[in-house]
Amino acid sequence: MNLVGRDFLTLKDFTPEEIDGLLKLAAELKEKKKKGIPVDTLRGKNVALIFEKTSTRTRCSFEVAAHDLGMGTTYLDPQGSQIGKKESIKDTARVLAGMYEGIEYRGFGQEIVEELAKYSKVPVWNGLTNEYHPTQMLADMLTIQEEFGYLKGIRLVYMGDARYNMGNSLMIASAKMGMHFTACAPKKYFPNQKLVAECDAYAKESGGTITLTEDVKAATKDADVIYTDVWVSMGEPDAVWEERIHDLTPYRVTREAMENAKPTAIFLHCLPSFHDLKTKIGKEMGERFHLTEMEVTDEVFESDQSRVFEEAENRMHTIKAVMAATLGA
Ligand code: CP
Ligand code: NVA
Repeated sequence: MNLVGRDFLTLKDFTPEEIDGLLKLAAELKEKKKKGIPVDTLRGKNVALIFEKTSTRTRCSFEVAAHDLGMGTTYLDPQGSQIGKKESIKDTARVLAGMYEGIEYRGFGQEIVEELAKYSKVPVWNGLTNEYHPTQMLADMLTIQEEFGYLKGIRLVYMGDARYNMGNSLMIASAKMGMHFTACAPKKYFPNQKLVAECDAYAKESGGTITLTEDVKAATKDADVIYTDVWVSMGEPDAVWEERIHDLTPYRVTREAMENAKPTAIFLHCLPSFHDLKTKIGKEMGERFHLTEMEVTDEVFESDQSRVFEEAENRMHTIKAVMAATLGA
């Protein structure tokens, strides 16, 4: 596998062999980190981390991974740069590529990160757009592989808004890796048909399948992985909460859903999660709509089947693999 100089914008651009290669590299880097063996062969290099939306995991993963690899980082926060306001993406790409060896971008439309990559002579990594979250996929696949020992044939059910970054990306990753992907949501939350058709083609190659259903019982039956995400994503208006709560409450991940899955099934969530009222938004929405939890019950989130914190840790190891592979560590 040689990914030196490549951008990392969506898993659509990568073959199953390349994805597998990145997962192997991540597992190796994780093992070395646990044993205290340094891998800092990118000493002297620097990366720019652009965040037009907020972050805990992705930012910390890029910073820790870059520092472990020996690199320096600059964090550009949603307010603190000229990007988009006083300077175009095209100019920003050319400025930053002159100073840094790689650029991470988290923001809005996928076309923005594509444009950044087009005009940057150094690799650009997508740290989440409205459409895709590819670094999250590597962490999720690594977590599933650690649990079951393989990906091919795994039955993954995504419950919730399947039209957005997480639903789209899980469908792509599953289809590429020969998994059986089910989006379980009301019809209006199904991923768009063009992407479904593209993923169907990947699945034909890999032996995977794509299913879209409104039926929670049928979807969760014998699942290996049940996955969900927040019902309202960053950048969406507050006005959509009421409709989302109404539409998606039947698709909350509950104990009944987990019990309908295989006894060995695990629960995953990209996080952050509204599984209780201990956050500002969770409390506000809880009070407004008389809820104590949203996309997942606190019981499932805190259960023995939950692997969400292992998954969060794997963000760092997999992001390290992406930077190491594309920068030639
Ligand atoms: N899962 C994820 O991307 O988390 P952050 O928004 O905290 O980066
Ligand atoms: N769908 C969520 C994912 C957060 C990691 C969002 O875009 O806000």
